[in-house]
Amino acid sequence: MSTPCYKNSKQPFEKRIKDLLSRMTLEEKLGQLNQIYRGHENPLPPEFAGQVRKGEVGSFIWGYAQPELRNQIQRIAVEETRLGIPIIFGNDIIHGARTIFPIAPALACSFDPELFERAQSIAAKEARAAGIEWVFAPMCDLARDIRWGRVAETCGEDPFLSSLCNAAQVRGFQGKDPSSNKNLAACLKHYVGYSCPRGGRDYSDTEITEWTLRNSHLPSFHAAIDAGALTVMSSFNAIGGVPAVANRHTLTEILRDEWKFKGFVVSDWNAVKETVSWGYAKDDADAARLSICAGNDMDMLSTSYCRTIAKQVKDGLLPVAVVNEAVRRVLRVKFMVGLFEKPYADESAYESAILRPEHIEFARDCVTKSTVLLKNDGVLPISKKVRKIALIGPFGDDQSEMLGCWQGFGETKDAVTLAQGLKVKFGSKISLTVVKGCSVQTQPRMKTLQDGSTVVDESAGKDDDAVNLSEAVRAAKAADLVIMAVGEPRGITGEGGSRATLTITGRQQELFDAVAACGKPVVTVVFSGRPLSIPAVIEKSSAVLFAWQPGIQAGNGLSDLLSGDVAPSARLSISVPYEVGQVPLYYNHYVTGRRTGGVYRDGVPTAARFWFGYGLTYTKFEYSDIKIVSGKKGKPAEAVATIRNKGRRKGVETVQLYIRQLACNEAARPMQELRGFKRVALKPGESVKVRFPLGGDVLGYVDCKGRTCVDKGDFHVWITPHARCGEALVYVHK
Ligand code: GLC
Repeated sequence: MSTPCYKNSKQPFEKRIKDLLSRMTLEEKLGQLNQIYRGHENPLPPEFAGQVRKGEVGSFIWGYAQPELRNQIQRIAVEETRLGIPIIFGNDIIHGARTIFPIAPALACSFDPELFERAQSIAAKEARAAGIEWVFAPMCDLARDIRWGRVAETCGEDPFLSSLCNAAQVRGFQGKDPSSNKNLAACLKHYVGYSCPRGGRDYSDTEITEWTLRNSHLPSFHAAIDAGALTVMSSFNAIGGVPAVANRHTLTEILRDEWKFKGFVVSDWNAVKETVSWGYAKDDADAARLSICAGNDMDMLSTSYCRTIAKQVKDGLLPVAVVNEAVRRVLRVKFMVGLFEKPYADESAYESAILRPEHIEFARDCVTKSTVLLKNDGVLPISKKVRKIALIGPFGDDQSEMLGCWQGFGETKDAVTLAQGLKVKFGSKISLTVVKGCSVQTQPRMKTLQDGSTVVDESAGKDDDAVNLSEAVRAAKAADLVIMAVGEPRGITGEGGSRATLTITGRQQELFDAVAACGKPVVTVVFSGRPLSIPAVIEKSSAVLFAWQPGIQAGNGLSDLLSGDVAPSARLSISVPYEVGQVPLYYNHYVTGRRTGGVYRDGVPTAARFWFGYGLTYTKFEYSDIKIVSGKKGKPAEAVATIRNKGRRKGVETVQLYIRQLACNEAARPMQELRGFKRVALKPGESVKVRFPLGGDVLGYVDCKGRTCVDKGDFHVWITPHARCGEALVYVHK
């Protein structure tokens, strides 16, 4: 019997898809649109085999590096079902598979998209070896409100930087051939507008105008689609009351009709069914029909599609053509990631693929390039005269906290803490005393009352609330230098990690104040998934390093910076406020018709403590000769500047180009927009001229029909070390 076309690898994908689709029953089609979750059970629940054998499973969320179990399930799909369509296994590999890197907003602080590309290329190799061919990353959401814990997964508050970083991540994950055993399919999430929830509360509603959608939230997704992303995940939120999972404007009119996206869209967890909770769909059947007709192809976890669509098709409520198109998209991606030719993972590959020396070395490099030096009165790099260091605080020697909010297949034992890194770096040259001082997870224990409300459980033990001030103060007084390791626990960042305050948690402030009062120089290292409002900590510290959640090479990378072996070069991807009351706070907001004043009535500044793009290094750079040079022979004008290293150490400066259109009749534009940056490495005394052409869509915006427009007229242009800094040049674009 001849090989059916869909199994013939010599045939083009589209021909194979057409042939396979023509052979499928409606139930088999709906099985391809159904994704289920492999939880913590081991061995696998027996019902999985039954569901797979009946062709009811198109995909698994598979959170474990267990290729042998994965192959066991796959063998049923391929060898025991009528058509043998392979399952696609997906997982949340956000900032590393087994080699865990700094979180995304930290890597974005490197202003080096290639760093991101390399990190995700390593993550893809390790994940594919684990039997995963689809990752639910990159997260393309724009950071808009740091009370929302998921800013820890974003590439920051700027659409331009976020676009470059997310396109780079797609290239890293998918490589040139997503079917190779070193690459896999990316998934852009959460499409779209999830990142500005009311009150900063995860899962709450968002109100976004088309103008803001087009120019703030969509650019990063568009850039990543243009980079070839194979899948998209629709988001939990609604835009103007229409849930994103059933939003035809965003899912079809923009994603398909305008951007020509050919991959498939998966819902977020149970989001199809949740359109009923939104009060948008009447019941599961309504939810399934509205979602699939809007352009959401696969149903994550709710099973609404496979339970309710067949009857709706038979009753003439839902055209089978809609189902066919969704299945066509899913099959296309399965062909593109090589599942039909190679359905089984190589069960011997994982151990040799993970934690390779070059992966670990690179993870260390990522730490040095993503940790931001926010303040330094000269205490850093640590002087050779320092003999005694006291490392105080709950983040100083906690391996688990280094792994961040999505640890993939990461294991605690792989992490190098700051204490461990300092011991390796300084050895016997330094006497290091390590004092935890208080716990990390001192969150009030809550209890639920009869009426369903939750209150603090006063009776709950306070065992983890102790603070050991005397030991900390003793260590500080005996030291030449104190390093404080404080922050927010990773357990309250990421999904569901909404906070109404942005302080360091528990009794860390008490610990910090007692240590700072000892009068020794304090270097504070902040571990957090988001910027925190810690003005007193900053004021009392001689230096502040913002380390985010740095991954398994935390201690070694941070020690490279503290010792001066490597100079900091990172620049903030998200602005840092003084107080949570200023949030939402981001640099690229409108000018508005009236001055909002520099200070709130209760004395808090309206400006950020540190703006987007800010960061120090161990030398100083001078900007001079900043001007606009008109273009010749049809070439665009250029903004140029000379940058000189006027310090005594070499350093890397990230020179940034911002623009503002002074009058845009489509809609007012933000007071500054990043439209270019160049990282220049300069030795002491060395200078370089940087040039930014003002052509193409550097000055452009997207109108509400999705067209990129560049208006003639007056612009302000800055070449500057960070947002909201320096004088603007006036440029008249003709
Ligand atoms: C979660 C998250 C999403 C994740 C998915 C699968 O609810 O919102 O980011 O990829 O479910 O774990």
